[in-house]
Amino acid sequence: ESEPGTCKDREIMRHDPHTLIEGCLIASFAMQAHACYIYIRGEYIREKEALQAAIDEAYDAGLVGKNAAGSGWDFDIYLHHGAGAYICGEETALLESLEGKKGMPRMKPPFPAGAGLYGCPTTVNNVESIAVVPTILRRGAEWFAGFGRPNNAGTKLFAISGHVNNPCVVEEAMSITFEELIETHCGGIRGGWDNLKAVIPGGSSVPCIRGEHMKEAIMDFDYLREQRSGLGTAAVIVMDKDTDIIKAIWRLAKFYKHESCGQCTPCREGTGWMMRVMERLVKGEAEVEEIDMLFDVTKQVEGHTICALGDAAAWPIQGLIRNFRDEIEDRIKAKRTGRVSAVAAE
Ligand SMILES: Cc1cc2nc3c(=O)[nH]c(=O)nc-3n(C[C@H](O)[C@H](O)[C@H](O)COP(=O)(O)O)c2cc1C
Ligand code: SF4
Repeated sequence: ESEPGTCKDREIMRHDPHTLIEGCLIASFAMQAHACYIYIRGEYIREKEALQAAIDEAYDAGLVGKNAAGSGWDFDIYLHHGAGAYICGEETALLESLEGKKGMPRMKPPFPAGAGLYGCPTTVNNVESIAVVPTILRRGAEWFAGFGRPNNAGTKLFAISGHVNNPCVVEEAMSITFEELIETHCGGIRGGWDNLKAVIPGGSSVPCIRGEHMKEAIMDFDYLREQRSGLGTAAVIVMDKDTDIIKAIWRLAKFYKHESCGQCTPCREGTGWMMRVMERLVKGEAEVEEIDMLFDVTKQVEGHTICALGDAAAWPIQGLIRNFRDEIEDRIKAKRTGRVSAVAAE
């Protein structure tokens, strides 16, 4: 469920399981699809129960099932829960997983629209994209397009975590400034704006941006791309000056190594290699030249894999090197002179 935002004094609808099911119905009817699968993360037990209860209500009310809503059209919704693999969010790995196989991304083409689940034409969307459809139809496309800058229209779910006073998930207008987003919904940055070190604006896979460039930042696809980062999933990670940014990015590298499905060599080998070099950078146990070597390796992984997990593993490290190279070098030099901090050495 999303908290509605307040941007531009215009009401944004709260999206809940019922609007999602309504969206599934509308989208599937438009495509004349008779089956719809909602794939939910296995760990979300309560959310799964709430969603299943809403699906059951829709069946009881005759809105879905045989002769859905008296339309003569048969339509079923299945709720499927994952088993903990991040890669199963990638659309073709998700299809494999739904078919009962290991969640390994498929080569494209063929694209799911041509041959997807069980070989049938399939459309895969994020539930956020589907849940907003009923509101757009009710209020009109112009209402929705009225939010955000041209080419970045609409609303967005922002999931703000890290060093803000009140981490939250909120639906807001696209192109809201970072400052307004944080001040309106998160109670400000922990320790104030001068204490902001870095922000990852679009989920763990996008490069970080230095804190001093973020206050005026516009939270949309075009602006953040121009800053060599991205809006991605709009899962905003805020880090204050207490953060060991090298260690934070090492943690992401460890995550991607763990989640690689292993079928492409650059990703399977590269994620482990990058994590191990990052491990040494955290401790300062590396040569300064290795920073460029690591950057080169990220470039060999990026764009050379079946799915975008390879890119996701490369980009945070590229962001770190571009923005915090001085910190990495300082740590290597500090290690040589025996001044590396206890936290980094852990
Ligand atoms: C490694 C990886 C993980 C992904 N995980 C998710 C996910 O958890 N949820 C999601 O909606 N899309 C995820 N995606 C993106 C999907 O492949 C797909 O692009 C998206 O669901 C399309 O929906 P949209 O067009 O409505 O955004 C992931 C992609 C990759 C490469
Ligand atoms: S990029 Fe990584 S996760 Fe994606 S298919 Fe290749 S090995 Fe698997």
